Amino acid sequence: MDSPSPTRPPLRHVLSSAQFDRPFLDYLVTLTTTIRRFDKSREGMVYLQSLLAHKRAMLYFTQPSTRTFLSFQSACHILGITASEIRDASTSSERKGESVEDSLRTFSSYVDLIIMRSPIPRLCERIATMLDETPRPVPIINAGSGPDEHPTQALLDIYTLSRSLRLEGGIEGKTICMVGDLKRGRTVRSLARLLINYPGVKILFASPPAFRIEEDLRADLKAANVDFEETTAFESAIAAADAIYMTRIQDEYDAPGAVRSDDHSAYHLTAGHLPQLKKSCAILHPLPRRNELDPAIDQDPRAKYWRQERNGMWVRVALLTILCGIDDRVQLPEL
Ligand code: NCD
Repeated sequence: MDSPSPTRPPLRHVLSSAQFDRPFLDYLVTLTTTIRRFDKSREGMVYLQSLLAHKRAMLYFTQPSTRTFLSFQSACHILGITASEIRDASTSSERKGESVEDSLRTFSSYVDLIIMRSPIPRLCERIATMLDETPRPVPIINAGSGPDEHPTQALLDIYTLSRSLRLEGGIEGKTICMVGDLKRGRTVRSLARLLINYPGVKILFASPPAFRIEEDLRADLKAANVDFEETTAFESAIAAADAIYMTRIQDEYDAPGAVRSDDHSAYHLTAGHLPQLKKSCAILHPLPRRNELDPAIDQDPRAKYWRQERNGMWVRVALLTILCGIDDRVQLPEL
């Protein structure tokens, strides 16, 4: 199996997709596929559950979540980790005026790992730095930090892309079209940064003019010599794509009282577009969707988003084994 370099420092926290390189991504993809094979038997699942039965995790999610929360919770259950949760800061001592730093330091007194989602950009980095200076420097996993980053979503997107495009030779050299709110969509920002690791990738960013990518991402892609284009020509972009990554408009970040924006239907993928797409094109979406992705597409073999959702749980299992230093215990001999 591919393995990360023996000189690689152990993974301490998962804060940003910028921390991952190609050997790590290849290793995670292979490890995830290996771990899924344990799901084939009762013995396999019982074995996985025994691995981290001595560990406790806190799921601190103060922004709405369905998939990320449940897939992390399920990943914890699969590995035997006991998971506690806070899903609303108003039920914690933050309501009594406690700072978010003190709340998170408190969790670190009781658990071995904190998985957190918050509307505050870069809060995870701040908390990780703070905890690293305490006697209980528990690992932090960023499960979404405002409009900034969502690194574990990007990892599961890479897994889904590499599985979906494997008959086409993998992600390298492919044209990936990202559509929708590219300005505030954290999944786009984190995934685009991971795609830097795949030589020859071309990214087509198709968005309404108000939702183009932010300057920091543009600068990172330029510095890494990634071939990318920003366009409003949705139909020609999707026709050229080997994979399409749809996203919803992130209006929770609209300024208070802002008038809800225009009609973005020119950036909706409908069943009527299917004949224009490549036969092998993979259609992804981090979900939840609104009307940008027609449910009539769900039956098309190119629709990969429901698999992508399930993949997320297994990628998170794999990531937890690496983070807890037990990935050597989930290798299986080649069949
Ligand atoms: C995304 C998120 O929270 O950023 N959802 C997810 O984690 N699967 C995408 C979104 O909310 O639009």
